[in-house]
Amino acid sequence: MSSATPAMPASTLSPQEKAPAPKVTPQALPPVSPHSTGKRSRTVVVNHDALAAAGMISAKSENTAIAEEFRFIKRPLLLKASGESDPDSNNRHRNLIMVCSSRSGDGKTFSAVNLAMSIALERDLTVMLVDADLAKPSVTGVLGIEADLGLIDLISDDTLDMSDVLLRTDIDNLTVLPAGRPHPLATELLASDKMEKFIDDVAVRYPDRIVIFDSAPALMNSIPGVLSLYVGQIVFVVQADKSTQEQVNAALGIVDSCDDIYLLLNKVRKGKHQKDNAYYGYSN
Ligand SMILES: Nc1ncnc2c1ncn2[C@@H]1O[C@H](COP(=O)(O)OP(=O)(O)OP(=O)(O)O)[C@@H](O)[C@H]1O
Ligand SMILES: [Mg+2]
Repeated sequence: MSSATPAMPASTLSPQEKAPAPKVTPQALPPVSPHSTGKRSRTVVVNHDALAAAGMISAKSENTAIAEEFRFIKRPLLLKASGESDPDSNNRHRNLIMVCSSRSGDGKTFSAVNLAMSIALERDLTVMLVDADLAKPSVTGVLGIEADLGLIDLISDDTLDMSDVLLRTDIDNLTVLPAGRPHPLATELLASDKMEKFIDDVAVRYPDRIVIFDSAPALMNSIPGVLSLYVGQIVFVVQADKSTQEQVNAALGIVDSCDDIYLLLNKVRKGKHQKDNAYYGYSN
């Protein structure tokens, strides 16, 4: 859809066993990376006008329908991340959330960026948005920021540390970890011990931070399957009228090592679905 068109509603529904009917304050930024080197990450300025024009949540469009929808969408994720809803389960890092889907174009990046913006702008918590779609990185493009190094460089180059690749933004509590430079063994690296170490580092170093991984289509790329081994929660985007039950079931089977999978019904067309703004609820 064109960037001037208002965003279509994104609603949530429950997963597997059911049919998938589915302030900007530029200065005085707090230190983000308490890395032992004491280095500070580079600060970039998000293109809020472009986000707003694309119908996404930005510092200039906090009171829109899409902002309201993501208030509903983030609530159970934040509750689970805080441990309040599942105090006995601590074998997974619940603050690590992957956004995935079955196919390209379902709205993973749209949802991951909106989720990150919603949490960061409303100051619920500090957010790190990681572009883990190494085959087709798009987080920096959507945010309108420039970056060279990123996740893949961090896990492939021992001389780099988090502060070299993590970007602070003009939104106080939002940091972005870009995908990084193309690497022929990107998928292998993601499946390596180094990735596991990165995940553990992030979880231990930033226990109060929500880390959102924008990932790739599960039916086309192995990254979601790999990340599902580590993350504590998954937001699985189902594209209304496009994602088939077979595709959704097949993709869910790839990421089912994570037991907290929430389906998000995206691109619901107004007029076709009576409850296009309805909150369908989460389950696991
Ligand atoms: N709810 C929505 N309302 C309006 N536009 C949307 C919505 N969801 C997604 N889009 C648009 O649809 C297009 C595809 O979305 P997006 O890039 O998020 O998909 P993706 O699942 O990340 O795809 P890929 O796997 O190729 O990275 C983008 O132009 C995005 O802005
Ligand atoms: Mg994407």
